[in-house]
Amino acid sequence: MLSTLLAAFWIMVPAYVPNPVAAVCGGGTPIDFGRNFSDKKRIFGDGKTYRGLVCGVAAGILCGGLQIWLVTTCHWDLPQHTLVSVSLLALGALLGDMAKSFFKRRLGKERGDAWPIADQYDLVAGAFLLVLVFDPAWVFSVMTLPILIVILVLTPVLHRSVNIIGYRIKVKKEPW
Ligand code: CTP
Ligand code: MG
Repeated sequence: MLSTLLAAFWIMVPAYVPNPVAAVCGGGTPIDFGRNFSDKKRIFGDGKTYRGLVCGVAAGILCGGLQIWLVTTCHWDLPQHTLVSVSLLALGALLGDMAKSFFKRRLGKERGDAWPIADQYDLVAGAFLLVLVFDPAWVFSVMTLPILIVILVLTPVLHRSVNIIGYRIKVKKEPW
């Protein structure tokens, strides 16, 4: 059980890191350059910026690189990442986050409004979609049904905890 939990967490680290790093480093030019969609509402909104995207993805890849090194060189007995898998997971996490914001705006939700379930699973959906499309062999080499179930339970718990911490230390405007 503990090893399944550890494996699930290890697989997801490159996808978990980008969101909090984007919250800390984000700001500046919005990805949609302030433009509206055909419904006259913002495409993504001011909460999705180039700096957040670039710093978040870079941080996820950096952590993944450290994980690759720990498993390869220090022989830690945990799932093996590759440069491709960590890049796809990190980028996918924030593309999932952007896709969520796109649909939030279409539903008329303002920046920062809570959207339960979507807020917690956007990163999982985005990360898995990207890695399944571009490196399915890696997914099938590390993933088991128990690990998948643990990821689905662990992610909302971690998401909520990290956001509450982010809110308390005033990095995030909302505790979700
Ligand atoms: N952030 C960023 N660029 C990104 C993602 C996040 O700059 N690609 C930063 C923004 O400052 C954002 C904060 O991280 O306000 C928190 O992210 P999130 O909760 O995803 O954004 P919200 O502000 O809640 O906006 P939305 O309603 O669109 O989700
Ligand atoms: Mg938010």
